[in-house]
Amino acid sequence: MCGIVGYVGPQQAAPVLVEGLTRLEYRGYDSAGVAVLNPRSSANPSRVVRAQGRVRDLEAALPARLAGTTGIGHTRWATHGEPSERNAHPHTSADGRVHVVHNGIIDNFATLRSRLADDGVELTSDTDTEVVAHLVARELATGLSLEDAVRTAVGQIVGTYALAVLDTQTPERIVVARNGSPLLLGVGDGEMFVASDPAAIVRHTSQVVLLDDGDFATVTADGFHSFTDGEERTARAAVTIDLTVEELELDGHEHFMHKEIHEQPESVERMLTGRLDDRFGTAKLAGLNLEPRDLRRFERVKVLGCGSAYYVGQLGASMIEDLARIPADAEPASEFRYRNPIIEPSTLYVVVSQSGETADTLFAVREVQRKGGTVVGLVNAVGSSIAREVDGGVYLHAGPEVAVASTKALTHMSIGFALLALTLGRVHDLSFADGRRIIAGLRAIPGQIAEILAGEEALAAAAKELSTAPSLFFVGRVRGYPVAREGAQKFKEITYRHAEAYPTSELKHGPLALISPELPSVAIIPDDDLVERNITAAQEIRARGGAVVAITHPGVELGDAATSRIEVPRNEVELDPILLTIPTQLLGYHAAVALGEDVDRPRNLAKSVTVE
Ligand code: AGP
Repeated sequence: MCGIVGYVGPQQAAPVLVEGLTRLEYRGYDSAGVAVLNPRSSANPSRVVRAQGRVRDLEAALPARLAGTTGIGHTRWATHGEPSERNAHPHTSADGRVHVVHNGIIDNFATLRSRLADDGVELTSDTDTEVVAHLVARELATGLSLEDAVRTAVGQIVGTYALAVLDTQTPERIVVARNGSPLLLGVGDGEMFVASDPAAIVRHTSQVVLLDDGDFATVTADGFHSFTDGEERTARAAVTIDLTVEELELDGHEHFMHKEIHEQPESVERMLTGRLDDRFGTAKLAGLNLEPRDLRRFERVKVLGCGSAYYVGQLGASMIEDLARIPADAEPASEFRYRNPIIEPSTLYVVVSQSGETADTLFAVREVQRKGGTVVGLVNAVGSSIAREVDGGVYLHAGPEVAVASTKALTHMSIGFALLALTLGRVHDLSFADGRRIIAGLRAIPGQIAEILAGEEALAAAAKELSTAPSLFFVGRVRGYPVAREGAQKFKEITYRHAEAYPTSELKHGPLALISPELPSVAIIPDDDLVERNITAAQEIRARGGAVVAITHPGVELGDAATSRIEVPRNEVELDPILLTIPTQLLGYHAAVALGEDVDRPRNLAKSVTVE
């Protein structure tokens, strides 16, 4: 989704901004732009360059000399108004004095636009953001400082925003504001940065200041000062981020998605370090901030997440029911908040998110908290909004995930759920021996993922065949159903082929009518107590001419129920879905490669969905 970068310091701003925007490309966008201030030029105190398309298109549009040491840049993911140069940010006030970049959505933009139009302001874009530039300019014209002008302008806005604002008359500063969209400051040596995502500035500094909702800040080369609407100073201190430039490089892989799939054995090993407690057959999750006595009082678990995180949430809920024997279910966070949910004090709410910035999930956290519930998070991005707002949680430690289609973060989420389920289980009726059994299973996972990845060639061949089908099914039962849902999601996100998941048991209740030689199925057939039924269903697909790619365990006799077979090593039955998911990542990836699609940046999608 949209990205912001800003710079003020001794360097020329334009190259810093362009490099930052390149690092934000992974988030998904359709246009980009920069504004650079040059106080030395009285004729042109600022230059704005914008382009539809990629950051490289913006780079090509930049003049050879774009002098100036203060600037802001933006990648836009269209919400209001089509992707185009005129709708790209920065937006500029009618008098040319103010430049603004914005992430988020201004809900009352229509009212503000018509008020401005009534006052004779000529609006030059279809965006919600443009109103901010005009509002700030209007306040500046009354003699207010840039800080006060921004504060007064945002007082008229209803909605979410991360804003960075330039005034050509005070070119040594950027004023920023945050409400509901991530924003941070990077602290350099005699220079400062602004960013919506640390990736944009990681090459320059690892010292960042995470702003909170309601924060404003004035940023100059010497530092910053942050304040609130009530004008009090806020004491925001810099923290060190654990992110390196190397983690954001392809490191010999053709795509980030491929790199991230292959990182899993190592990243999972790292995630488990120090979290398995052999002495008590449980997990060590100090960040939950819940003692065994507190955990014991929960009679139910509700998992909330969006998209793939929701599917992993379903998997997690079944792990919790299996191991802790307390009712658990998952619900899309995007739906939860709008149905006026009943929040029970005896329910543990668990939100799950890679980015920690998904607006729907963040609002679900607030809904639970507003009604007095306890909510913990399984989050990957350290210091993200969700991580900071939940009552406790488990960091996933998957490292940065650049590809829009999530893979390793999802694996880490499912392992996070296994750790949580184990912890809950051990304060209920899960025996010490069973706890040790799950621990042994978890320890085996990194090596078993490596085994699956070693079979990539065969998976690539199966994916190539699947890629030619206009439509396909992913089917699985009980624990295998979320695996099928996630498999279908991954496939459709990056191949643009229609892929639909069904519980295998539901096929004969309708979807079987669609089976034909043109519609292959990927069937999840673990060696569990449903194996015979799953094989029968696969045979029913075969009998109607449909091809079946079975993801199964060694030793399962499929006979002619499958046209091709992909094996994953057996683990404990509760943990098997974690491994069964891995081949579906490679199926989606290789099908997209075979189709020549832009694997890491699928059309219309964004890495972190920061608008509702
Ligand atoms: C995954 O491949 C998707 N891009 C998407 O469904 C994602 O999982 C969802 O938007 C939730 O994101 P989050 O984990 O950052 O909250």
